[in-house]
Amino acid sequence: MKNQLILTLYILMLAPMLNAVAQVQGINNLDPVTEQKIDSIISLMTVKEKVGQMTQYNGSFDVTGIPSDIDSKTKLERLKNGEVGSMLNVLTAKATREAQEVVMQNSRLKIPLIFGYDVIHGYKTMFPVPLGESASWDLEALKLSAQIAAEETAAAGVHWTFAPMIDVSRDARWGRIMEGAGEDPYLNSVIGVARINGFQGEDLNAVNTIAACAKHFAGYGFAEAGRDYNTVNVGESELQNAILLPFKAASEAGVATFMNSFNEIDGIPATASTHLQRDILKGDWDYKGFMVSDWGSIAELIPHGFAKDKLQAGKLAVVAGSDMDMEGRVYEMALEPLVADNQIDEELLNDAVRRILRVKFALGLFENPYKYSDEKREKEILLSKENLEASRDIARKSIVLLKNEKGILPLKKSLKSIAVIGPLADDKDTPLGNWRAQAVKNSAVSVLEGIKNAVGNKVKINYAKGASLGMGERSFLMPLTINETDTSGFAEAVEAAKKSEVVVLVVGEDAFQSGEGRSQTAIKLRGVQQELIDVVAEVNSNIVLVLMNGRPLDISRPNEQVPAILETWFLGSEAGNAIADVLFGAYNPSGKLPVSFPRNVGQEPLYYNQKNTGRPSSDMVTYSGYQDSSREALFPFGFGLSYSTFEYGNVSLDANTFSGEGLLNVSVAITNTGTVAGKETVQLYIRDLVASRTRPVKELRDFKQIQFEAGETKTVTFKIDSKTLEFYSANAKWEAEPGEFEIMIGTNSVDLQTVKFTYE
Ligand code: BGC
Repeated sequence: MKNQLILTLYILMLAPMLNAVAQVQGINNLDPVTEQKIDSIISLMTVKEKVGQMTQYNGSFDVTGIPSDIDSKTKLERLKNGEVGSMLNVLTAKATREAQEVVMQNSRLKIPLIFGYDVIHGYKTMFPVPLGESASWDLEALKLSAQIAAEETAAAGVHWTFAPMIDVSRDARWGRIMEGAGEDPYLNSVIGVARINGFQGEDLNAVNTIAACAKHFAGYGFAEAGRDYNTVNVGESELQNAILLPFKAASEAGVATFMNSFNEIDGIPATASTHLQRDILKGDWDYKGFMVSDWGSIAELIPHGFAKDKLQAGKLAVVAGSDMDMEGRVYEMALEPLVADNQIDEELLNDAVRRILRVKFALGLFENPYKYSDEKREKEILLSKENLEASRDIARKSIVLLKNEKGILPLKKSLKSIAVIGPLADDKDTPLGNWRAQAVKNSAVSVLEGIKNAVGNKVKINYAKGASLGMGERSFLMPLTINETDTSGFAEAVEAAKKSEVVVLVVGEDAFQSGEGRSQTAIKLRGVQQELIDVVAEVNSNIVLVLMNGRPLDISRPNEQVPAILETWFLGSEAGNAIADVLFGAYNPSGKLPVSFPRNVGQEPLYYNQKNTGRPSSDMVTYSGYQDSSREALFPFGFGLSYSTFEYGNVSLDANTFSGEGLLNVSVAITNTGTVAGKETVQLYIRDLVASRTRPVKELRDFKQIQFEAGETKTVTFKIDSKTLEFYSANAKWEAEPGEFEIMIGTNSVDLQTVKFTYE
């Protein structure tokens, strides 16, 4: 044992040199030397130390879950004894260094801690919330925002973010829809991969990159009735084709970690699902990184009615492939007795520890456990001018122009007066959104500030709040109080509207109205906001409605009242400047909706890629629709206007059939018929007309963003191969089935041209 310890320490000392030779990309390319080192460390570990690596403690009580049940003194002792392998919510270069020192100076094997944190849309510099940023469809921009977030996070000593969330979410009632890329599996896949590449860079070992985490595995976004943590019931086809597609892509991209989810699927809680974690992830996909549980989700197997006590919960979770217990306090009490009692094989622990150590090695922590904790770098990087500029650029790319009649937008700087009205018009906090990491309260640029920055003293700005939205203190865990009655500010708002040429009316949701635990049964504007629109619209019809929200809203009524609508989500630190860029035409809007906006909440879950059903239409009542509403979205997936207009020519195919590994090209000429340069996102959808499992009426399979000068025509060509046509078939494999297909190309998921071909 002693010799082996010396050998291991010797290997660890050599690590810097060896690491330089064998760089890993993501977690996929395993380096045999590192694997050997890991094996030799494992061979030295006691069962208690192995369980330690599988245990994650909360450092401080930050944003999630229920506060820890053990005091700091006990925590410290456990860190010293090597009984903790990871911590979350320990922040700053100083604090992470201190915690790491405890382990490095006291524990027997000196295995460094890995620090995790929810860096969902920025660390200190805030970017748009993920749903909003996804509306940019700009993969380079999405990658850059994750890269900057990673740089700031790493500079604060943190190694690992619990992002991206790649849960396909189809239900506007679900508060966490704001955290993902919306309703489409393909868009979630490519955006998820862009974010992973941004966080992890080309080299996890670099000091400015961090490990990413694909979450929540799996099905969390399919909670019944949009109620958070609720039951999920899906069959294998939906599971594979809709829910797992982005996770498969994340695994292939080498994401360092996965997180499982709170929900059950078909009677099995995901945390205890062998099918998901062992058969699919670690089996079919051959994934090499590790799976962290969600906060306390192992202990939650008990209220789920799946385990009778913590001992059984620990056994079920470890057998199923949950490698690390986040604040659940289950593994630390259950795993040792389970091994001692021969109820589980110690090899299960070895496998989990091996996966965790792989990530620690990839991050270079064995080489230098303190390398991320650098106070000087922390000061320089956080909230730098460059980071804020990047945030503004990504923010303006995320804005979606939903409506623009009477040529009201862009606003002319020659206007004499603008009324800026609404509860969110001068709000410097709401644009930061939920899951705001270390953003400083009230640090965003408000819309009012952004407009003033854009027009200076040249235009008279008449500001009136009109009404409050939320009342009192708000935070991640606190229930919100919404102002439902106070309309005392209306008179001032009406006055401001009366004396102005144009009204910019800023309404929407409180920052904490969407996010974890923030499910709602209604998705109209809350409080007195609709009444405010009513009274303002009575005196001035030139209204630009600026929406801030983390979920699709039912805006059917405002849509009838105002000529222009801008969807701005929660855009982060530079929100007001980015919004002003679009309002005054310094940036020509290019965002496209990553989610359908419904006509009413009763349509939810609403998503464009539905099945045809056996009764798609009829003149009679007996078809799959509603008697009191259209079944179509008010604003469909992929929709977004521009200050330019794009005219599509005829879509043409270079062949009508292809087979096997062949391909065909589909082309369309597009002209910017407007008077300004602009960017169009050209979307390609397919439909597999007859298949071994029914397929959606359309599915996004590719898109291209093209910049056009005014008057310019460009031909856009997409390549279709068997990969484009693949799905998880009745043969339980990913394949393209021969038969007839439709290809649809257009500017959104509804306005499409269709051509047909046969795959042989
Ligand atoms: C959330 C996770 C998050 C974790 C740690 C949980 O409540 O579901 O997404 O990463 O807390 O904060």
